[in-house]
Amino acid sequence: MIDFNSFFSRPEFQQWHTDFKTALAQRVDPKRHGDLRGWLEIIDSLPEIDTNEIYLNQDTVTIGAKGALNQQDKSQLHDALFALKPWRKGPYQIFDTFIDTEWRSDWKWQRVSPHIASLAGRTVLDVGCGTGYHCWRMLGDGADYVLGIDPSMRFLVQHMAVQKYAQNSNFDLLPIGIEDMPGSMPLFDSVFSMGVLYHRRNPINHIIELKNLLASGGELVLETLIIDHIEGGILTPKERYAQMRNVWSIMTVDKIISLIKQAGFTDVQCVDQNVTSLDEQRRTDWMQFHSLKEFLDPHDVSKTIEGYPAPKRGLFIATKR
Ligand SMILES: C[S@@+](CC[C@H](N)C(=O)[O-])C[C@H]1O[C@@H](n2cnc3c(N)ncnc32)[C@H](O)[C@@H]1O
Repeated sequence: MIDFNSFFSRPEFQQWHTDFKTALAQRVDPKRHGDLRGWLEIIDSLPEIDTNEIYLNQDTVTIGAKGALNQQDKSQLHDALFALKPWRKGPYQIFDTFIDTEWRSDWKWQRVSPHIASLAGRTVLDVGCGTGYHCWRMLGDGADYVLGIDPSMRFLVQHMAVQKYAQNSNFDLLPIGIEDMPGSMPLFDSVFSMGVLYHRRNPINHIIELKNLLASGGELVLETLIIDHIEGGILTPKERYAQMRNVWSIMTVDKIISLIKQAGFTDVQCVDQNVTSLDEQRRTDWMQFHSLKEFLDPHDVSKTIEGYPAPKRGLFIATKR
């Protein structure tokens, strides 16, 4: 029902085709996703338009020129994209439609890109890629090929809408989790894990999983929630953290650095720390549910609604020798 031929046509993954096919068959089972059929109907309703106007190296991932469409295509495109909301990661400009996502994901890329090895000519894996916004930016910065993985089916469908117009065979997005990846597939020159570590029950295992996907000499880029001070270096939220249910642990910078070293990486550095602002994650027309403002203490935005320190993120880079 969903076509992953572009990924399966790449010879470098051939040895692991069976693993990927098994994982995809389980993940894409329509019985598990009541909404999937409806979302795919929306994809089918997207107008057929070709474009060469594609700009991946600017803050807004831009596919198709403004003013190029007739009125019917313009509103059909807008309505189909809008029907796929909530859109969380972006922004995107698709012809005349500006997708004002919940997150200014471009701000994260501005914090990340100055610190990482040049992506020119690299094969890249982005674990927990969401709609693939950062994958597009990686291609914009010269990556040869980007594989994004994210178990969220809605993100896959949103990606399909963007890819329908971008038609970029150097970017595949698979709706699978890191746990579905082959245990050892050291193919990637750069592996990104951004916003995923705290969702994993066993943080060091996650870092080792990432290492097993990196080629020797490759770079790990790990971005995650951090906490300034806590005894033992780890906060384990009792139930929710900033209303998120699946946050298992938030660690200090020192603790994360020591885990990355323990996993066998060298040249480990924390290159950025940033408190998430109410302008970076906010409710928009394209994501109309609660957002960061509602997840913080209304009387003290330095705390979450549960009383923990408000979200702060650290960016770590390391090398696999
Ligand atoms: C906070 S978002 C971060 C998205 C993006 N990487 C960014 O930094 O903006 C976390 C993402 O990780 C995905 N995710 C959760 N569990 C995962 C897993 N086991 N493997 C891969 N991705 C996962 C979620 O679906 C979600 O899209």
